[in-house]
Amino acid sequence: MIEIKNVSKVFKTKEGTVDALRDVNITIPDGDIFGIIGMSGAGKSTLVRCINMLEKPTKGSVLIDDTDLCTLSEKQLRKVRKNVTMIFQSFNLLMQKNCLKNVCFPLELAGVKRADAKKRALELLELVGLQDKAKAYPAQLSGGQQQRVAIARALATDPKVLLCDEATSALDPNTTGAILELIADINKKLGITVVVITHQMSVVERICKHVAIIDDGCVAEQGEVAQVFADPESDAAKQLVYSDELSKIIDQCGGFGHTVRVVFNGAEAAKTPLIAQLAESKGILANIAYASTKSIGDKAYGSMILGIDGDEKVLAQSLDFITSIKGITAREVFVNDK
Ligand SMILES: Nc1ncnc2c1ncn2[C@@H]1O[C@H](COP(=O)(O)OP(=O)(O)OP(=O)(O)O)[C@@H](O)[C@H]1O
Ligand SMILES: [Mg+2]
Repeated sequence: MIEIKNVSKVFKTKEGTVDALRDVNITIPDGDIFGIIGMSGAGKSTLVRCINMLEKPTKGSVLIDDTDLCTLSEKQLRKVRKNVTMIFQSFNLLMQKNCLKNVCFPLELAGVKRADAKKRALELLELVGLQDKAKAYPAQLSGGQQQRVAIARALATDPKVLLCDEATSALDPNTTGAILELIADINKKLGITVVVITHQMSVVERICKHVAIIDDGCVAEQGEVAQVFADPESDAAKQLVYSDELSKIIDQCGGFGHTVRVVFNGAEAAKTPLIAQLAESKGILANIAYASTKSIGDKAYGSMILGIDGDEKVLAQSLDFITSIKGITAREVFVNDK
C-alpha cells in the first residue's frame, strides 16, 4: 500500500516560490490501477516523483508498506527504486543501445549476470509482444513499440509499483488503447500496483479503478472511477467529466429550463423507461439533448442530458423521481460547469 500523507512541495525559484503540492492525502491499495488526473501544471508529475523520492516532499510523508521513504538514505532509496519503477511520455530509451540491451540495463546495474539478464530481458520482450525486435534500435521502432520496450525495462527488476507519467500522451488513440491494455494485462498477470498520471479522463475510465483529481496542487476529489464519473462533486471533476457532453449540448441546443445529467449504472438501470415514466406518473416532460454509453472497467454506463422545462419545484420532483430508481444518479448541470 502506498500512503501519501499531508504531502506539500514548495519549489524555490528566482521568480519566487511555487506551491506545487498542498497537503495531499492519497492512499493507493496494493494491486490497484490508480489514476491521478489534472490540468497541466496541477502538480501530477511532482506528486508521482514524490512517490519514488525523485523529489523530496517539503512536508509530509510517503509510506510504502509502512516504510516512510522520507527517512531513508540514498543507498536505501536505490533499493526502493527497483521496486517502484517508472515510464514516461518520451519513453527515455538509450538510443545507442538495441532493445535487448535497453531491457538488460537495469538488470546489469543490479548486478545480475549477463547471461541471466539476457534471458530475463528476452522473456520481458516477449511479454510486451516485441520478441522479434530484440536487435532493433529505438529509432527503428514506432512510438508504441518504444513504449513497450520502456515497459519491459521498467519491469526488469520485478517492481511492486509501476508509475506511468503521461505514458500514452505521445501516442495516437489506437496505440494508446493497445498500451493501456498491456498495462492492465501486466497489472492482472503480475499483480503490480499501477499509478497512471494523465490529463485525459478517457484514460482513467479505460483502466483505472480509483482516481484522484489534482487541481492547483490539491486533491479536489478522489474515489472510485465509476462514482466520480456518475456524480462528480468538485468543479475540477465536473470539468473533466462533463467536457465532451456539455460542449456538444451548448453547440446543438441551449435555452432549456433546467439541464440535468443522468447516469445509468449497468444494464439493469438502462431497462427502466425513465422518460415515459416521468411523463406518465409526474406529468413532467423532458427532452433528451444528448445520450451516450461508455465502458468503465467492465461495466457499461449510459449518460443522458435532459432538458426539463419548469420551475424549481418541477426540477426537484424530477430529480427525486429519477434518483429513486436503483443504479441511476442525476444532478442539475449548468452551462458554466464546463
Ligand atoms: N523543479 C522545479 N522547479 C520549480 N518549479 C517546478 C519544478 N517542477 C515543477 N514545478 C512547478 O510546479 C507546478 C507543478 O508542476 P508539475 O510538473 O508537477 O505539473 P503537471 O501536473 O505534471 O503538469 P503537466 O500536465 O503539464 O505535465 C508547476 O507550476 C511547475 O512550474
Ligand atoms: Mg507532468
